[in-house]
Amino acid sequence: MNPAILFLLLFCHTTQTTGVIIESQPSSSVDVVQVGLRQSVSLACRPDDVAQNEEELVWLRNGEKIKLMEENKKGESKVCISPAIYDDNGATFTCYLQSNSSDVAFVTLNVTYHPELNGSEEVTIEEEESLVLQCDMRANPLLSSMLWTLNGSMVDLLAGGFTVTSDGFTSVLQARRVEKSVHGGTYKCTATSPSAGVHSKLFHVIVTEKTIKFPLMPTIAGLVVVFLTALLAVVSRWKKITKCCK
Ligand SMILES: *[C@@H]1O[C@H](CO)[C@@H](O)[C@H](O)[C@H]1NC(C)=O
Ligand SMILES: *[C@@H]1O[C@H](CO)[C@@H](O)[C@H](O)[C@H]1NC(C)=O
Ligand SMILES: *[C@@H]1O[C@H](CO)[C@@H](O)[C@H](O)[C@H]1NC(C)=O
Repeated sequence: MNPAILFLLLFCHTTQTTGVIIESQPSSSVDVVQVGLRQSVSLACRPDDVAQNEEELVWLRNGEKIKLMEENKKGESKVCISPAIYDDNGATFTCYLQSNSSDVAFVTLNVTYHPELNGSEEVTIEEEESLVLQCDMRANPLLSSMLWTLNGSMVDLLAGGFTVTSDGFTSVLQARRVEKSVHGGTYKCTATSPSAGVHSKLFHVIVTEKTIKFPLMPTIAGLVVVFLTALLAVVSRWKKITKCCK
């Protein structure tokens, strides 16, 4: 752990008993509030001592001040995170009395989510094109595995010239220059998460015969131009030649 954060944690623990306290809904016994993606959390902060009920409270999200309504500043101040989004994971909400910012209370959100994988997709591509299939792999806690199968067996990376890459958000299966016999079939990505179980998505990939493509028209047009230019050159030259012979 970053020493600065550790220091902050220790510091806050020792001072949290005086000053302000935060209560969360859903409640948490520690400084981490668990919430599912798209669910809501409500945080309430109040002075420890009712004598300070006339003092204004301040809320920060990751160190930035949250704008509060006038009637939400004294006695008790509430902030709602609704719905919780990916970006809220790890966000820290801090509260203190404006008159004494050395007494802070804070909670950190732990937004749990699993990859959004379900249903199936039809993919039609021509032979020799590239196949690109993508599956969401965002998960908290992290996935224990992400697997790709073709017609029920593990995708044969070597035989099919496949590559599987991931940036932590998306798993991408790619194949360059597909062939009908090697690449057509039903693909499935399966994400296994320690807490959210198994989620998967199907892709029905149909590889069709190669068709002749658009570059044909510009090519013909180009050839016509070249031919006409040549013809004009010959015609004008022929005129000169004939003139000269007269
Ligand atoms: C702020 O709170 C701390 C801890 O309760 C206390 O020691 C300090 O005197 C307070 N400062 C002010 C300006 O009230
Ligand atoms: C967040 O919640 C998940 C699921 O309960 C847990 O596995 C993980 O350790 C928690 N992360 C933090 C930082 O508390
Ligand atoms: C997968 O199954 C389909 C349907 O049975 C078949 O047409 C295709 O050739 C199979 N693909 C591979 C790579 O074996």
